[in-house]
Amino acid sequence: MLIAKMYMLVIFAGKSTRMKKVVDQFTVVSNIPYNSTNYCITLKSSLPLEKIEAGQFTNVEIPGNKDVFLRRPFSLFEVDYKSNTVSILVKILGKGSKTLTEVQSGEELSLIYPLGKGFTLPSKGEKILAVGGGSGVAPVLHLARNSHLPTEKVHVILGARSASDHIPVDHYSEWATCHYTTDDGSLGIHGVVTSHPLFKDLTQFDRIYACGPLPMMKAVAAQAKLADVSCEVSLENLMACGFGVCLCCIEPTNKGNLCVCTEGPVFNVNNLKW
Ligand SMILES: Cc1cc2nc3c(=O)[nH]c(=O)nc-3n(C[C@H](O)[C@H](O)[C@H](O)COP(=O)(O)OP(=O)(O)OC[C@H]3O[C@@H](n4cnc5c(N)ncnc54)[C@H](O)[C@@H]3O)c2cc1C
Ligand code: FES
Repeated sequence: MLIAKMYMLVIFAGKSTRMKKVVDQFTVVSNIPYNSTNYCITLKSSLPLEKIEAGQFTNVEIPGNKDVFLRRPFSLFEVDYKSNTVSILVKILGKGSKTLTEVQSGEELSLIYPLGKGFTLPSKGEKILAVGGGSGVAPVLHLARNSHLPTEKVHVILGARSASDHIPVDHYSEWATCHYTTDDGSLGIHGVVTSHPLFKDLTQFDRIYACGPLPMMKAVAAQAKLADVSCEVSLENLMACGFGVCLCCIEPTNKGNLCVCTEGPVFNVNNLKW
């Protein structure tokens, strides 16, 4: 049975920001394995979706596993307001993500969304580079789709260990010029994302964005700083509540210790103590 959408008005202690979040029961439309560890789960709400910015995330209740008490955070990968569906890309890491990849069409999942602050969208005429590694490809692809720029102005570099770890994103060529790197050279440029020739001249870009493993984001940020190009990264700190109460996702920044779930997950690298 569908539970009516509930609104949570969360007022963060010590802050004037009032953020409305939604707890909604979604129905699994499909659960497609992209490869041995990555699954794309599409979920439908019976009610109109809230507006979702690229880079925002959802905290998902893990069904039927008593060992997994806390919700798990996932970026909102695809959003379709016409069909009221969202997709999340789930990479198996531990018990929570493994259980999630076993859901069947028709099952229900409880989502809290939209959480956090998304990427700063580019202005008309700008040229951007978005870099995604591992499960970090989800928010950068959503960003590419939402940038509303011609494809030649939106370059996406997707990095993975091997060709078989890359997810199929052929349809993204409609919104971006996609490039690939693999650690073993089986697809695209051989090496890490920063080995890609586009990194030889970052000054051609107005903005750079990155999401993925911490060393990857730090490497991208260092190159962006050298080229003096604005760079935003989406952090994937460990989280529990997802809306600023438990303080387990703290990141030291130039503005003090901030909750990644409410002040991020997207940060300008100039504000991080990297
Ligand atoms: C804002 C945000 C967006 C995210 N988006 C996605 C996404 O789109 N797709 C996706 O697959 N994953 C995403 N993640 C990561 C995802 O939340 C974790 O993989 C998941 O919570 C792991 O739960 P688990 O129960 O499977 O593993 P656990 O049993 O909780 O952990 C297994 C192991 O992985 C480590 N671990 C858990 N979470 C993380 C993390 N965030 N970073 C590094 N190590 C971790 C744990 O320390 C432990 O060693 C995101 C995380 C955040 C904070
Ligand atoms: S996850 Fe609880 S405060 Fe950020």
